[in-house]
Amino acid sequence: MTTTTRSTTYKATGTPRRLVHHNFFVGSISKTMDFYNQVLGIEETFRIANRGAGFLSNGNTHHDLGFVEVSEVTRHRGEEAHAKGIKEVPLDYGTKPGLNHFAYEMYNEAELVTAYDRISEFGVKPWLLEDRIVTRSVYFSDSEGNGIEYTVDMLSNWRDYRKPGASISQRDYVPGKETPSTASFVNLNPEIRRVESGALHAKKSAHCMLVARDFSKLRRFYIDVVGLRELYVSPGGEFSLLHGKDFPGYSMALVAQGSNRPAGVGQICFELASAEDFAGAEKRLAAKGVKLELRIEHPKKQVLRFRDPDGTQVQCYVEAPDFLDAVKTMDPALALQLV
Ligand SMILES: [Fe+2]
Repeated sequence: MTTTTRSTTYKATGTPRRLVHHNFFVGSISKTMDFYNQVLGIEETFRIANRGAGFLSNGNTHHDLGFVEVSEVTRHRGEEAHAKGIKEVPLDYGTKPGLNHFAYEMYNEAELVTAYDRISEFGVKPWLLEDRIVTRSVYFSDSEGNGIEYTVDMLSNWRDYRKPGASISQRDYVPGKETPSTASFVNLNPEIRRVESGALHAKKSAHCMLVARDFSKLRRFYIDVVGLRELYVSPGGEFSLLHGKDFPGYSMALVAQGSNRPAGVGQICFELASAEDFAGAEKRLAAKGVKLELRIEHPKKQVLRFRDPDGTQVQCYVEAPDFLDAVKTMDPALALQLV
């Protein structure tokens, strides 16, 4: 039984709190689930077998990662969106491995509804609105076709509903049809679990690097439409660090396209639980069949980079508390290696 509270004094701004999960279309759900469990040390929370979907979490919330296997069901998502007049969704969306969406967590439903109203004012049409009992979500695409989800937890006891074999209830959702709840079910002190057999031990899905075809336009989209705040933009316009509110770090590194940096997802980034994971990392990764592609030991940030089974670049890191300050005085080329 959950309780909700209503308030006429609460003033929602529709600002996301943080990036809460990455969701990708993948070639093999079993291979991908095994990779993120055994390489990044993130626990499997649940699967939806008939939809070829799987989810992992180390406890921050019900999923830090979601995956959907490419299938006949997913192959028509782009066409379906175009038929609804939503042309931002790429026609090949769901036909091959790649980004499904990045999800931004809202503090409560009132924030979700305010954010929904804002994107609607900008003429952005959501391609899915869903109430899954545990969460309520609004899905849309940015100006370059990257999928975005606003999501809000509607229950705090998600482990009772999101466990292996559990069925997923869902129903249509009309944001704002009913007075939205101002109660927050965000767990500010989550129980973080550790998969001992993992080569590494991720603390959380931290941020993504997104490479823009049109940096200026996409930057304005994430600030004005998505509602992220800009923490820093490099003076030469090479990159921008964007974030929500009330949560440390940054949620997105938005980077301008370059000759060796094609538009789309550059990498997905995970903060490690501790720097202890760096000792012997290359050997442990190799034992899981993973080739370490880059290792950086910088006084402000240590970085490991490799690829998942579909070739998505994965960055794992630990950073100094003043890393964001350090970025502001760094050579942009070095900063781009580290963010
Ligand atoms: Fe999602």
